Amino acid sequence: MRMLALYSIKGGVGKTASSVNLAAEAARAGLRVLLWDLDPQAATSFYLRVKPRIRGGVGKLVKGKASFDKVIRATQIDGLELLPAAQVSREMDARLAKRGASHLRQILTPIRDDYDLVILDCPPSLSHLSENIFSSVDALLVPMVPTVLSLRTLEQLDDFLDDHDIACPRWPFVTLADRRRTLHREVMAALPERWPLRLSTTIPAASAVERMGLERAPVRDFAPRSAAARAYAALWRELDQRLN
Ligand SMILES: Nc1ncnc2c1ncn2[C@@H]1O[C@H](COP(=O)(O)OP(=O)(O)OP(=O)(O)O)[C@@H](O)[C@H]1O
Ligand SMILES: [Mg+2]
Repeated sequence: MRMLALYSIKGGVGKTASSVNLAAEAARAGLRVLLWDLDPQAATSFYLRVKPRIRGGVGKLVKGKASFDKVIRATQIDGLELLPAAQVSREMDARLAKRGASHLRQILTPIRDDYDLVILDCPPSLSHLSENIFSSVDALLVPMVPTVLSLRTLEQLDDFLDDHDIACPRWPFVTLADRRRTLHREVMAALPERWPLRLSTTIPAASAVERMGLERAPVRDFAPRSAAARAYAALWRELDQRLN
């Protein structure tokens, strides 16, 4: 069972859009995928038409006593299941603070043979939850809008992980890119040197991604030939190669 997180300290950079689209691509490729919505905003749960509610409560889940049959929900996509958001994520954070570093991964131990890939959609913060994420996952996928401030948050993340001796690979990728903008082109040109582990596929700023909220589905389901759907398919292929 591989575990990846869509993570950034910065909000609104495409973590949720990327979680849903990459999870759908992986399921489409035949993997058994679990998407875990860790953000109380519950956008991932919304996109996949599932109520943001942990049956039995967060407490049981964190203690490892949840009944996964009830907590995990099917989605409209074959091979893709969802662990929905909890309305009370502060509770999740407080409870994780008292647990071991990679407790999130341990929570999933009873079902680890049921999935090939677990994708975490994370809230934009640095918290007990995020520290637990860093120690639980195989890599962080960090969506990055090609602007100076976005690069700065990536550097802040690097510093935080170095300061805390957490060896978690970071695989940034560019999203919401607009090649017509000089600044975007300049920032993208500087990336290869600074972040050699970045994924080279770029996700364009595209109205199809914004439509996900109306369609409540990954882009490939309603705009399969759009630039955004093709970009997410390419990003998944690159990721898949790196994982194997
Ligand atoms: N490639 C894209 N093209 C156009 N719009 C996009 C793209 N990716 C994301 N968006 C839009 O940008 C907004 C933020 O995206 P998203 O919710 O995925 O970001 P996020 O990082 O998960 O945000 P948060 O930090 O609040 O959880 C949404 O309205 C979404 O529709
Ligand atoms: Mg989000």
